Amino acid sequence: MSVTDTIRKTPGDTAWFTHDRFGMFIHWGLYALPARHEWIKNIERITDEDYDKYFRYFNPDLYDAREWAKKAKAAGMKYAVLTSKHHEGFCLFDSQYTDYKATNTKIGRDLVKEFVEAFRSEGLKVGFYYSLIDWHHPDFTIDGKHPRRDDDNIEEQNKGRDMACYREYMKNQVTELLTNYGKIDILWFDFSYSGEVYKGMKGKGKDDWGAEELIATARKLCPGIIINNRTEIEQDLWTPEQYQPESWITDDKGQRVVWEACQTFSGSWGYHRDEATWKSPEQLIRMLINTVSCGGNLLLNVGPTARGIFDDRADYALEQIGKWMRLNSKSIYGCTQSEFEASPDVRYTQNGKVLYAHIYAYPFVALRLKGLAGKVDYMQFLHDASELFWSEKGEDIIVKLPVVKPNQIVPVIEIFLK
Ligand code: GLC
Repeated sequence: MSVTDTIRKTPGDTAWFTHDRFGMFIHWGLYALPARHEWIKNIERITDEDYDKYFRYFNPDLYDAREWAKKAKAAGMKYAVLTSKHHEGFCLFDSQYTDYKATNTKIGRDLVKEFVEAFRSEGLKVGFYYSLIDWHHPDFTIDGKHPRRDDDNIEEQNKGRDMACYREYMKNQVTELLTNYGKIDILWFDFSYSGEVYKGMKGKGKDDWGAEELIATARKLCPGIIINNRTEIEQDLWTPEQYQPESWITDDKGQRVVWEACQTFSGSWGYHRDEATWKSPEQLIRMLINTVSCGGNLLLNVGPTARGIFDDRADYALEQIGKWMRLNSKSIYGCTQSEFEASPDVRYTQNGKVLYAHIYAYPFVALRLKGLAGKVDYMQFLHDASELFWSEKGEDIIVKLPVVKPNQIVPVIEIFLK
């Protein structure tokens, strides 16, 4: 039995997804203007009135979705998920159920439509992030995550707010998103917090969202679509965020699931001008390798600026990843957790009879790979297909490496098993 036979079956079509392994997350909205976190309305408890200036001045004049799509593709990404609406409630798409949308701003265009067309024409699959939370909708009741959570008159403000109307709104918008833009591959809901209580206010979860109906609607419109687990109803996808799992993720019965880690370049999802904790290309590449070595996907986030472009730091990271992927992506696409156990400075991924050893600490001349004696037919560096020799030592093999580390952020050995 191979590793993949034991994975929990999914309602949607995840075959392409677990092959492709690497996608681009895009967090873009009005919060790109304050440029100090996508939760800024919540963090600074900004009123609708004050936040409105971002709506009035939103004008991403340099937005060219084809440029984004080309950059994603060059980085080796195979799919992309865009925030059609984030918690602030602003819609990048032309929804008939709200005025709070890109078509009513200075830019006056359906930004989602352009995204879908551009990414599809580069051959990437497309997904929509859709926020269940909405800090702008007049029917969304104030709770512990709402910008108005510390006001004195919450009860008064909540009078007349009707979550049933909000549920209807979401159902209508999901219908629009899955009807007006052709076949959509992923629907990425965000998120539930029904277990939380703040000043006596209960958090929201699947019943508040009408999650069952939302999912049924999506499945009817797009039968194969991949849906994540953040409505509080398990579907296709488990979504660890901002941490790296160290082994394959399992459900509560211990069965392996399809999972996707989502990660940022720096500490924020939306464009954050002054945030400085940017991960190095090496950290990012290792993140991708580590993820695939545990049977998962990586969704790596870019937060475009309010001009509509990726900033230099994001471009640099994508270029470095793309350089590595160009020569080493065979160890990512179609690969999964290996049946072999790697030594501490090595990470394995495997695609059938081909094993990929990623060297994290490049040693002097000799690299020991455990348990491979008698199992290897041929091996080479992946980036230049140059032959490598090995000898057997008990159960293990010792690979003879050149003294000088190849000019690869992470060198990979491609091992053809017998
Ligand atoms: C979160 C945050 C958020 C981000 C998301 C991505 O839960 O609310 O801003 O969109 O995770 O996974």
